[in-house]
Formats: sequence, structure tokens, C-alpha cells
Amino acid sequence: MTTRPRCQTGIELLDSELSGGVPQGSIVLVSGGSGVGKTTLSMQFLTNGVKFNEKGVFFTATETIDKIKRFQGGYNFFDEKLIKSGELSIIDLWSISDRLGLHPERYNLEEANILFEVIRDITKELGAKRLVIDSITSLCYRLQTKEMIRDFIFKLGSSLTALMCTTFLTSEVPPRVFQYSQYDIEEFIADGILFLGDIERKGDLLRTFQVVKMRGTAHGRSKYVLTMSSKNGVELAPMLKSNI
Ligand SMILES: Nc1ncnc2c1ncn2[C@@H]1O[C@H](COP(=O)(O)OP(=O)(O)OP(=O)(O)O)[C@@H](O)[C@H]1O
Ligand SMILES: [Mg+2]
Repeated sequence: MTTRPRCQTGIELLDSELSGGVPQGSIVLVSGGSGVGKTTLSMQFLTNGVKFNEKGVFFTATETIDKIKRFQGGYNFFDEKLIKSGELSIIDLWSISDRLGLHPERYNLEEANILFEVIRDITKELGAKRLVIDSITSLCYRLQTKEMIRDFIFKLGSSLTALMCTTFLTSEVPPRVFQYSQYDIEEFIADGILFLGDIERKGDLLRTFQVVKMRGTAHGRSKYVLTMSSKNGVELAPMLKSNI
């Protein structure tokens, strides 16, 4: 049996849960409600790539580039020097879309194709091996039908796999429900799902983390406690040992 090379996320317990990392070239949904840490975990995945000589590109479809820099700048793992050195690129998807003259609310099939090609070409040109779209939910909103969503994610997945680029797509879902995507399509096309949740405990809202699926590798499905700090960004701790 051959195993695909792994893309180490650099988030320790996640890599061990995945028997070494995400199979390279996978397309992974990072799902969860508001404020659970989707953007932070995804950015950390990109900046950790630098340790492995892998360039990263972050397409934002929710916050402005300035806001991303300001908020992520609060974590030690984020350094604007990475942008200057070209190891990390942050791109505003809607600015590109405007410049291409695409419809601001809803895309037709041709416009969806143009956007897909632009994302693919930028990734290729930059030589990025890690990519994030934050969020796929807001991009899907502009695709008019479930078929268009399926087609878009499928094509994106195949072309990025061919580039051996590992992709994280953040997916916004309502809080405290077991739902992985807004349009019920994204989760079936994605190779993997990482689910960030929250649970109320002693008047506090704790963040949790679970690998729901990851094609091409054996993996655990244990629930972890996810903490966030300026020093270490996102960290996982086993739920059973976390004393809750
Ligand atoms: N420097 C920091 N240290 C520790 N925690 C922080 C820091 N900065 C932000 N946070 C926490 O991170 C949360 C936001 O995380 P993040 O933006 O990654 O979540 P998200 O799931 O992407 O949210 P959204 O659904 O709004 O996109 C904040 O609500 C705050 O609790
Ligand atoms: Mg976010």
C-alpha cells in the first residue's frame, strides 16, 4: 500500500491524530460557528508551512486584508515579514472579483469559471503549496445553484491536488449544531473535515476540536479542547485530561 506524502499542519496533536499530517493535496473544510478559531487555525497552518519550505496563500472573502493583518498580528506565529519575503500572500478575493468585472452578488457559470481559473493561476504562479479560502461559505453564496457549488469545489480540488497544494476552506455553520457546511455540498466534496465547536462548561464557553473525516489516512476522532493564546496561537489538549 502506498501512502500519500503528508502536509504537516504544525499543530502538534492534529498531526499526530492524522498519523503525520494531512495527505498532501487534500481539500479540507475547517467548519465551525462564529469565533471558534477557523481563521486563526487556517493562518497558523499557512505560517507553519514556512518551516517546511512551503509557501502559503490566503484568499479572504470575509475580512479586509488590513483587518486580517491587524487581528492575526496579535499572535506570535504571524509576522508581516513573511508577506514581504513572499512566503505568505494575502489576497482579497472580492477585489479581484471586482477588477475582473464579475457580478458583485451572484455569478453565472462563466464568471464562476473565471474566478476558479484566477485562484488556480495565482496559486501556480506563487508556487504555493498551502492555500486557504476564508470562507468558502461566502464564496458559495455567490454561486447560484448546488450544482455550481459542487462543480466549483470539485474543479478547485482537482487542480490544486495536481499542484500538490493542500487547501483549507473555512466553513461557517450555526453555533452548537452538528452541521459541517451551509449548503450541504461542501462537506461531501471535501477530502477532510475539521470541526471546531463550543460547549458551555461552568458558565464558560469552551472551544472543542475534532477530526470528522480525512480521506486517505487512518485517524482518530477524539474530541480535543482548543485553546488560543498570543504566544502559541491555536493549541489542542485531550479532552479527557483537560479536567473539565
Ligand atoms: N491574541 C489573541 N490571543 C488569544 N485569543 C485571541 C487573540 N485574538 C483573538 N482571539 C480569540 O479568537 C477569536 C476569533 O478567532 P477567529 O477569528 O480565528 O475565529 P473564526 O472562527 O474565524 O470567527 P468568524 O466566524 O468570526 O470568522 C476571538 O473571538 C478571540 O476569542
Ligand atoms: Mg474567521
